[in-house]
Amino acid sequence: TDRYCVFGHPVAHSRSPFIHAAFAEQTADTIEYTAIEAPRDDFPGAWRRFTASGGRGANVTVPFKEEAFRLCDTLSERARRAGAVNTLILGVDGQTHGDTTDGIGLVRDLERHGVRLVGARILVLGAGGAVRGILEPLLAGHPASLLVANRTAAKAEALATDFGDLGEISGGGFDRVEGPFDLVINGTSASLAGDLPPLPDGLFAAGATAHDMMYGAEPTVFLRWASERGARTVDGLGMLVEQAAESFFQWRGVRPDTAPVLERLRQGL
Ligand code: ATR
Repeated sequence: TDRYCVFGHPVAHSRSPFIHAAFAEQTADTIEYTAIEAPRDDFPGAWRRFTASGGRGANVTVPFKEEAFRLCDTLSERARRAGAVNTLILGVDGQTHGDTTDGIGLVRDLERHGVRLVGARILVLGAGGAVRGILEPLLAGHPASLLVANRTAAKAEALATDFGDLGEISGGGFDRVEGPFDLVINGTSASLAGDLPPLPDGLFAAGATAHDMMYGAEPTVFLRWASERGARTVDGLGMLVEQAAESFFQWRGVRPDTAPVLERLRQGL
């Protein structure tokens, strides 16, 4: 049996073991997938010990995504851009390959909801690690424009510079935000504190979609705010399942059907 796991700290809350067990069941694949709490000061050691005992690959979550990036022998282009890795793959040569599937997971979930990126005016709120991970796949969808707005304007401006070769991207503080937008993605951690970034009215174009990378049993403050202003809302649970499906594909070469797994997860919230 090939072994996989998710590394985090803490990790007990992770839904990844449930998701990957469901994928494996679906594809009649026998894998073992567990959650491992790696020590904060020795992530490379945890990965080494895991591979020494038959581990073939892993997901990586908070707070190890940047450390995982640093230990890889080879990286996918999207992981190099993101500066973070959520998927580790042990090669037959013993080398560690790193990929990040968060951004493609977001784009797949948006596609599933019928959101068109081509020609869209996109606003991304936040400029932390989570946002860095989604910019390359969003720009690959050829939006008309992509504005990154952040509490700390300089971080958004730096992201716009780093990704400027990939498309129409600009960055700044929340005071730069002026609608309408076809797609607004909340990548700040403000929702965790029940906070809402300061946003103007007239943010949403007709038929616009609001996406929050967070999720929970109840809609986030941002999604409630967006819904009141007529936007269609999508939370981060679909992105979670889609990023897992892309990781599963990288390891096993099979694409699982995400819809029934998402439905079961939603029921369990
Ligand atoms: P992550 O890995 O989740 O992206 P992060 O790198 O710490 O975490 O980034 C958190 C993001 O949420 C940042 O963009 C942060 O804004 P700053 O760069 O100005 O710190 C944003 N954020 C956190 N709390 C916020 C709040 N209450 N209001 C607005 N933005 C907030």
